[in-house]
Amino acid sequence: MSDFEKNIKDALADPKNQGEMTDADSVGTVGSPDCGDMMRMWLKFSEKDGKRVIDRASFQAFGCQTAIAVASIATELLKGKTAEEAKNLSAQDLAGDLGTLPPMKIHCGQLVEGALRNALDPSETTTTETKPSLIGDINSRKSSGLRIVPLEQ
Ligand code: FES
Repeated sequence: MSDFEKNIKDALADPKNQGEMTDADSVGTVGSPDCGDMMRMWLKFSEKDGKRVIDRASFQAFGCQTAIAVASIATELLKGKTAEEAKNLSAQDLAGDLGTLPPMKIHCGQLVEGALRNALDPSETTTTETKPSLIGDINSRKSSGLRIVPLEQ
């Protein structure tokens, strides 16, 4: 097992900040054209030293283990950052200490980056009232015929 794989395994053993954030200030959603996986990220801002910074971030994912591990690391790493600082973070930056994303996994990190950018872009941002959760959003698309049913753990 490579160091990267071990770091992914460790991150997945205790993933941080999973789930809908009901009091979020913004939410962003993306789907990967490469694999069809989806990610949603919620952000809550607060004032600190006269600056508006990210207080909390959370995510929901229909994605691979790498995307979930990166999202877990990223949602921790975003705390205390301004929107401008967060916008400048690449997929690799968001992966933090996981290590260099292998070429086949770069798009997994970009899924997290995309959800973050979507949440930070006011023109793309919607409130949590209109998008309650990723599962709810997908299940509400009756025309697709697709229904996601979480498995019992
Ligand atoms: Fe789809 Fe990783 S394989 S996000």
